[in-house]
Amino acid sequence: MPSYQDYHTRSTGSAGTGVGAGDAGGQNLPDVIGNSAPMREVFRTTRQVAPSKACVLILGETGTGKELIARAIHNLSPRSTGPYIRVNCGALTESLLESELFGHMKGSFTGAVDNRTGRFEAAHAGSIFLDEINSTSPKLQVKLLRVLQEGEFERVGDNNTKKVDTRIVAATNRDLLDEIDAGRFREDLYYRLNVVPIYLPPLRDRRDDIEALVLSFLKRYADQNRRDMNKVQPEAMRLLCDHDWPGNVRELQNYVERAVILGNGPVLLVEHLPPQLRGQTPPRPTSARMKGGGPVLTAELVRQGIRAAGPNANDLYDRIVGQVERELIQQVLQACDRVQIKAAARLGINRNTLHKKLSEFRIDEPGLTPGDEGDRNGESPAPPREPVPPSEQE
Ligand SMILES: Nc1ncnc2c1ncn2[C@@H]1O[C@H](COP(=O)(O)OP(=O)(O)O)[C@@H](O)[C@H]1O
Ligand SMILES: [Mg+2]
Repeated sequence: MPSYQDYHTRSTGSAGTGVGAGDAGGQNLPDVIGNSAPMREVFRTTRQVAPSKACVLILGETGTGKELIARAIHNLSPRSTGPYIRVNCGALTESLLESELFGHMKGSFTGAVDNRTGRFEAAHAGSIFLDEINSTSPKLQVKLLRVLQEGEFERVGDNNTKKVDTRIVAATNRDLLDEIDAGRFREDLYYRLNVVPIYLPPLRDRRDDIEALVLSFLKRYADQNRRDMNKVQPEAMRLLCDHDWPGNVRELQNYVERAVILGNGPVLLVEHLPPQLRGQTPPRPTSARMKGGGPVLTAELVRQGIRAAGPNANDLYDRIVGQVERELIQQVLQACDRVQIKAAARLGINRNTLHKKLSEFRIDEPGLTPGDEGDRNGESPAPPREPVPPSEQE
């Protein structure tokens, strides 16, 4: 880890000058890869805000590097020789989190067998990083607001007020304005936290950074595992650059580590990448992503369609919309015993239109069984069909 001096020599002359990204103010932070315009903006703001005591709110999807930036703020600050304390507010229940943050007195609740110092006290003269602050309960939000405003709090079960001098950095992976609207987050706390916001864009919005990230993790994991893999097959790099990265940098890091471990030559090949990057459906538990319902599935379907079509496709509309249209017609037709007049009524389209679509999609042509027709360009097979429930089959 670089020293405080390193950070300061590097930032000399840039912090606080108010100059734009692309100049020295946007220079990289140690251990943080990225040269895209939005990342240079992140570097510039980080360097500008670090020397102050201002509260920083880091926003971004999971895996975008929020924790990395929180640590850089501490390391670049005059408090870098003091403690850096991280608390994941999303990982504990309300009462455990309260006692974790503020400490408690012996006997204040069942299990409180000793007096305990909280993380705020531990962060005195340093910084505290409140990760996933969006998960805190209304009661804790009141206590947090007071620490932010007055630097004061009480341990659970104690009447004595403690004072603490700590720099607060918080992160959220939810839009706090939505949380305020939903009544889950206090507006006054939001304004108090949001003194300097730093937004980390998702990786899919800064694809220029992907290659550098891949190469840097390749080096890291090859060294760590004593492998000599040091190159990436161009096709593999293309797949990495085209992927949508719902898990952002963390997901990319995992795939590169996996490839280093699975591969044995000097080159990272397509076959070392997980199925979802190769346009195949990954074997994965469905529940979490299914919760989003239709929109999530639709987004996934469209993503996969775009990926499967390749970068030179110029018929995405027909391909992807056609794929959905065809599947819809097939399913409804099947549910209506292949009676076209019934299917047209259920679909809410004219019978002639249905007839035209059936021949366009070559549905119901003799010799074709559902599922083996291939898509309209004959390049990739149609997606596996959902089994039709028995009630709809007859
Ligand atoms: N720009 C980056 N350069 C290098 N590593 C990164 C970058 N962004 C994220 N990482 C790495 O990706 C992983 C996830 O980052 P983290 O800061 O924990 O994300 P978050 O807190 O937003 O979920 C960590 O291992 C981190 O080191
Ligand atoms: Mg995190």
